[in-house]
Amino acid sequence: MTKYKIATIPGDGIGPEVMGAGVSVLRKLETLEDINFEFKELYAGDEYKAKTGIALPQETLEGVRKSDAALFAAVGETAKEVILPLRQKLDLYVNLRPTKVYPRVPALKENVDIVIVRENTEGLYKMIGDRGPDYGFNVRIITRGASERIARYAFEYAIKEDREQVTCVHKANVLDKTCTIFQEACRSVAEEYSNINYNEQIVDACAMRMILNPEYFDVIVTTNMFGDILSDEAAGLVGGLGLAPSGNIGEKYAIYEPVHGSAPDIAGKGIANPIAMILSAGMMLSWLGENNAAKMIENAVMKVLVEGKSLTPDIGGSASTKDLATAIAAKI
Ligand code: NAI
Ligand code: MG
Repeated sequence: MTKYKIATIPGDGIGPEVMGAGVSVLRKLETLEDINFEFKELYAGDEYKAKTGIALPQETLEGVRKSDAALFAAVGETAKEVILPLRQKLDLYVNLRPTKVYPRVPALKENVDIVIVRENTEGLYKMIGDRGPDYGFNVRIITRGASERIARYAFEYAIKEDREQVTCVHKANVLDKTCTIFQEACRSVAEEYSNINYNEQIVDACAMRMILNPEYFDVIVTTNMFGDILSDEAAGLVGGLGLAPSGNIGEKYAIYEPVHGSAPDIAGKGIANPIAMILSAGMMLSWLGENNAAKMIENAVMKVLVEGKSLTPDIGGSASTKDLATAIAAKI
């Protein structure tokens, strides 16, 4: 029996609703596979800050360090005080965001299968800046070390997952003090991987091409904010944020989370789509080396989508978060 300590950070809004769904699916796996989860709930977010004055307590950071892996659902307005410090302090330098077309879910184009590898520790999200009443600035930090590290991850990922192409997305023509370093780093790492096609695209053209010709893209490697924006765009191509999973991955620690936020517009209604959270839990299992269990989760999600019976409103059904999670657990 393999035992895993999993930290869970439910957070705010729909966070606890989708976390409950994710945990219920992992519990179902325990009954079928030789695997056991010890969950430890940790606190962070808007509600916790309202009670205590801090959004990310030290115990939560420590709790993630003591776990084999962590699941994070979503927080609200404190996102920059919670998820950014978690990523930066734990050196979770990769933000891995796969996007593909799902069965029966309406998509803008049929043939989308893009993986965005987003640098997760620097860029504009380093939170360095200042503002006065009528001016402000945020400093964009790009280093060669972090750029080479993320580029290498993208190429290694391409090899491991049998992919053919890595596209570096940048704005080096304008951001000449920062994106040029990112571009140089990608070029030099690309030289080590002659069996993977390497090309480059300027971010604005990439945003358009992703709508008109998304089949063109395979693995995209990019800086922090470009990756943030492009991955929501990619999610929109294939049915929205309710289906978009992600992983924050470092050498020692990893936190898996849906791409979406706390969705205050639907919070408390019990209709949030739990699939992004459930697929994130599946990605976590693969990182832990439980490839069979990970595949079981993905297959169960696909079967429920093909059946089309227990879907939440965002993907055209009228089921609740719980109904959809129960249907997925039943297919495992
Ligand atoms: P959002 O991702 O929360 O919601 C955007 C839209 O997608 C909303 O219409 C929402 O109802 C819908 N949506 C999101 N997840 C869904 C799901 N699972 N099922 C069905 N529909 C879903 O982004 P928004 O509205 O820009 O931000 C809301 C709050 O979330 C803000 O306070 C923001 O700071 C925070 N946020 C937190 C993140 C995190 O915790 N990592 C990431 C993004 C935003
Ligand atoms: Mg985002």
